Amino acid sequence: MVAEYDCWFQRRDAGPDRVGLDRLYRGEESPLLDHAALEYRRGMEKCFGIPVRPPALTVEPSAAEGGPGLRLGTIPYLNKTRGLALTEQGPEGFVIRWEPGRPLIAGQDGQGTLYGVYRFLSLLAQGKLRPGDELAETPAAPLRMINHWDNMDGSVERGYAGLSLFFKDGRISYDRGRIEDYARLLASVGINRLSINNVNVRGPARELITEKHLPDVAGLADLFRPFGIRLLLSVNFSSPISVGGLGTADPLDRTAAAWWEKQADLVYRCIPDLAGFLIKADSEGEAGPFRYGRSHADGANMLAAALKPHGGIVVWRCFVYNSAQDWRDQSIDRARAAYDHFKPLDGSFADNVLLQVKHGPYDFQVREPVSPLFGALGKTRHLMELQITQEYTGHQIDLCFLPSMWADVMDFDTPAGPVKKLLGASSLEGLAAVGNVGLDGNWTGHTLAQANLYGYGRLAWNPGLGAEEIAGEWAALCFGPGDAAETVKSLLLKSYPAYEKYNAPFGLCFMVNPGIHYGPSPEGYEFSRWGTYHRADREAVGIDRTSAGTGYTEQYAPAKAALFADPSTCPENLILFFHRLRYDYRMKNGQTLLQNIYDTHFEGCDEAEAMLTLWTGLKGRIGGECYDSVLARFERQIENARQWRDVVNTYFWRKTGVGDLKGRKIYD
Ligand code: GCU
Repeated sequence: MVAEYDCWFQRRDAGPDRVGLDRLYRGEESPLLDHAALEYRRGMEKCFGIPVRPPALTVEPSAAEGGPGLRLGTIPYLNKTRGLALTEQGPEGFVIRWEPGRPLIAGQDGQGTLYGVYRFLSLLAQGKLRPGDELAETPAAPLRMINHWDNMDGSVERGYAGLSLFFKDGRISYDRGRIEDYARLLASVGINRLSINNVNVRGPARELITEKHLPDVAGLADLFRPFGIRLLLSVNFSSPISVGGLGTADPLDRTAAAWWEKQADLVYRCIPDLAGFLIKADSEGEAGPFRYGRSHADGANMLAAALKPHGGIVVWRCFVYNSAQDWRDQSIDRARAAYDHFKPLDGSFADNVLLQVKHGPYDFQVREPVSPLFGALGKTRHLMELQITQEYTGHQIDLCFLPSMWADVMDFDTPAGPVKKLLGASSLEGLAAVGNVGLDGNWTGHTLAQANLYGYGRLAWNPGLGAEEIAGEWAALCFGPGDAAETVKSLLLKSYPAYEKYNAPFGLCFMVNPGIHYGPSPEGYEFSRWGTYHRADREAVGIDRTSAGTGYTEQYAPAKAALFADPSTCPENLILFFHRLRYDYRMKNGQTLLQNIYDTHFEGCDEAEAMLTLWTGLKGRIGGECYDSVLARFERQIENARQWRDVVNTYFWRKTGVGDLKGRKIYD
């Protein structure tokens, strides 16, 4: 990688033959098509050094079509005016057809044309597109969203890449060029929705939906619009009180509902295409309908009624649990919460409400089962929420390639089919993910964490992609052509298994330092109100979530419930999530559970060290700045991995008094 800032738009030394690529003909006119043409020109020049004629903002009208050149337009238009018989695609889809000298990028609509341009540039850069090729793509699901957890003081909740791109000192403040570059990165991997402020809506952020900030939000929306990205705002449920000065935010109180309607009118006067509101209610201290004895459907439907006349949606998060739990009470299980709260409400939400469900029942742990709500919300529009920012997966200090985790999530079988097949084909209408970008020069703190942003977009577009394919694409775009890309790809693919081993094998999660969530603290949350326990004692560890325990397994359809409930069929990578097991329990490899815990922590640490060695082999073969910054992160990662290995192994050694069979060093 030569320029970290450029991400997957690196300048290549050798480009394609320019015949047919350096002249642009356009079909009909529209703002998105104009933008697609601009992006084509910009990409060809930047990545391949090929200037495209005509050089100005305009493109050759198709009436001038003659010799070689690229044709750009929408499928319906080109079929009608050129008799091309291009196959119609779904919304936002495109066709690329490259007749020698006359490549064509045709979108189903303006947005699809823009996506076709980015795909064309990407495939060209990967050396995967040649004259004679033809391909067609349509995104699996309509909603592909990123949620920023940015605060208006400029900080970012769970942000590991510098300050906010959007806010500073209590107001909206940004660098225009930087925002356009960000919008390009997002659009180039198919992201079409973006919420800009933290779901914990505090202080001045409550006023984002007032005259005070709306003109500035509108300015930001203007920058994202040409890239086909529509904004959402996170709102606070009690705003009728804190902002509106009312005495109540009760969703069934007419004055509160009317306040939201008035506010929505105002918001949509300023930003007519705002996608909607995102809300975290009744969770971790945030206000919500429970405060008034009302249901989540009451709360969501009230907001939905306010947004409905404007075509807006309400994205209502299902991360709702009682964050004041008592470790003494073993009957409460936080993992049950989302399903217990929302399954009974299936079918009672307005048609412009989408529930946003975290992919696992807990909170973005290194490994969790997929939430039983997926496949169970047959009558409610919903989204799956992932986390790109590495809260529990290494803070963008440790390398952890998350598409490896997400691909497992996509493959998970629900009663209605695997998640990847439900996306876009059922009431599961898309993905949302907490973003990992900030003002750092390389966007993501750890340069290789750019791969997580890239990978998220690619998966949201095509959930059938495997981790290996995504890693290969990203590495080729950023480090190719040549062997360095292969090394980077293999590093990415090694990273999640290594991280899981030294951090949280067998679903043994939440042994993190409370609050910051980096580094080990085996009992950090053990007696806390957050409800995340493993209850290790001298004989056993883990939570019994079968019907004999908390009953969480019963939330799954019968076949899955039975599979998880039996330790002999439960996937071993989740066995301690579902079961309480004695340390001498025999795992499939014939060794005890305890020995497996020791082994994985030693192995994970060794694997992290081997990753550092692999990286040092790249010295001199990739840009020095990138090499040095990643090297520094690997060095810190190794410290972290050693700490995890030693703290967790010592913890279990002290509990059990049983040492490592292989005689490796475990501290007293
Ligand atoms: C986690 C995270 C919080 C965040 C919350 C959420 O608990 O630690 O910072 O606010 O998730 O998803 O709302």
